[in-house]
Amino acid sequence: MTTLDFNNVTKIYNVRGAGQIKALDDVSFHLESGQTIGLVGQSGSGKSTIAKILTHLETPTSGEVLLDGAPIPNSGKGLRRYRQELRMVFQDPFASLNPYHTIRHHIERPLRLDHVVAKDQVDAEVRRLLERVRLVPNDVIDRRPHELSGGQRQRVAIARALASRPTLLVADEPVSMLDVSIRLGVLNLLADLQREEGLGVLYITHDLATARHFSDEIIVLNRGRIVEHGSADDVILTPQHPYTRSLRDSSPDPEKHFAGSGSILGGE
Ligand SMILES: Nc1ncnc2c1ncn2[C@@H]1O[C@H](COP(=O)(O)OP(=O)(O)OP(=O)(O)O)[C@@H](O)[C@H]1O
Ligand SMILES: [Mg+2]
Repeated sequence: MTTLDFNNVTKIYNVRGAGQIKALDDVSFHLESGQTIGLVGQSGSGKSTIAKILTHLETPTSGEVLLDGAPIPNSGKGLRRYRQELRMVFQDPFASLNPYHTIRHHIERPLRLDHVVAKDQVDAEVRRLLERVRLVPNDVIDRRPHELSGGQRQRVAIARALASRPTLLVADEPVSMLDVSIRLGVLNLLADLQREEGLGVLYITHDLATARHFSDEIIVLNRGRIVEHGSADDVILTPQHPYTRSLRDSSPDPEKHFAGSGSILGGE
């Protein structure tokens, strides 16, 4: 079992001309393999800053991040191991895939860098991963990203994230740029993979209703502070904070959507 602890993290950005922006203010939570946490908040609340700190693209101003109880190493083998353990799926499947490289190349790269399988097994492993995200390998493997639909591209990004056999996955609004009609398919895929692989998932979204369906716990972030954290049902059914209530009331009813009518996912 892998554990991740975000301990009292504060992040201040220094912005030229605008002074300091406190993007995160004393944020703490615990995520472990097998568990999904929905991280919900409006634009600018600090969600992506948490993702960037988790992927080591930003460092905390104060506080710390622990993997299995140990701080994230700043470089070398330790950082590599951390990055193999925790993978990211980004919001924009157009920007996160290189237009010049084939799908095969994108998925082979982490397999080779992290020595996941023997050299003569790489092709079979690429195909296995594509099947894992419900793509037909022969249809996509030698194509480039622009030849795929947005949904297919996001599936490739998920396959690439899984290639290193991570235990934790951070998905930063993974369906918000996709056509409304295919969002649920991609979210269900993520939920299936989470269960089958026993992953710990931090699912970042604007939308409280989808967070409820895909998460064990929900954290509500407002202006860099956690205003609510509890089981998904408790947060939705008996929100303690007015901000959570306003988020809930502005989010369409999930029951209606999942019964097959309108589209809550349109709100993400
Ligand atoms: N590199 C940066 N430099 C300065 N300020 C930044 C930087 N990145 C983020 N911020 C600021 O930090 C705050 C939190 O931003 P963040 O991107 O984490 O929000 P978010 O919740 O992901 O928003 P969204 O839902 O729009 O993606 C915002 O006020 C933002 O303007
Ligand atoms: Mg963001």
